Amino acid sequence: MAKPEISDFGSVDPAPPSEIVNLQKLNSILIDENARMFERMRVVFSLRNNGSKESVKCLSNGFKSNSALLKHEIAYVMGQMQNKEALPFLVERLEDESEHVMVRHEAAEAIGAIGCLSSKSILEKFVNHELPEISESCEVALDLLSHYNKDSFE
Ligand SMILES: [Fe+2]
Repeated sequence: MAKPEISDFGSVDPAPPSEIVNLQKLNSILIDENARMFERMRVVFSLRNNGSKESVKCLSNGFKSNSALLKHEIAYVMGQMQNKEALPFLVERLEDESEHVMVRHEAAEAIGAIGCLSSKSILEKFVNHELPEISESCEVALDLLSHYNKDSFE
């Protein structure tokens, strides 16, 4: 039996990356609410491996989905990518009071993983949020930011 492979990001992903590389094709599967979740996740990991600004934009289109699971996974890979282009999309998910808590939690952690000091204020805004999944994630993200920016953090 073949075991799931370890990605370039050191993670064993829930689905192997799609072999499709065309961004338009990947996008159409990602936003298709009738496509199998396994295939949509394969697209998510293929876009992560692509790593470009365009792939971040494409991933952000998946945030319009009804699936909290898919949106949570998108936020997770945006954190893995550590691409600043993802920050506005992640901030939007964190700020949305109607968004599923699992998505908001992952958006906060991804903002921390991207590691921009400019994200400090948005994380501080939610660090005392009434939902512990959000407040604790912001606390972890802030600690991560300070861990990697020891000299400039106050
Ligand atoms: Fe999570």
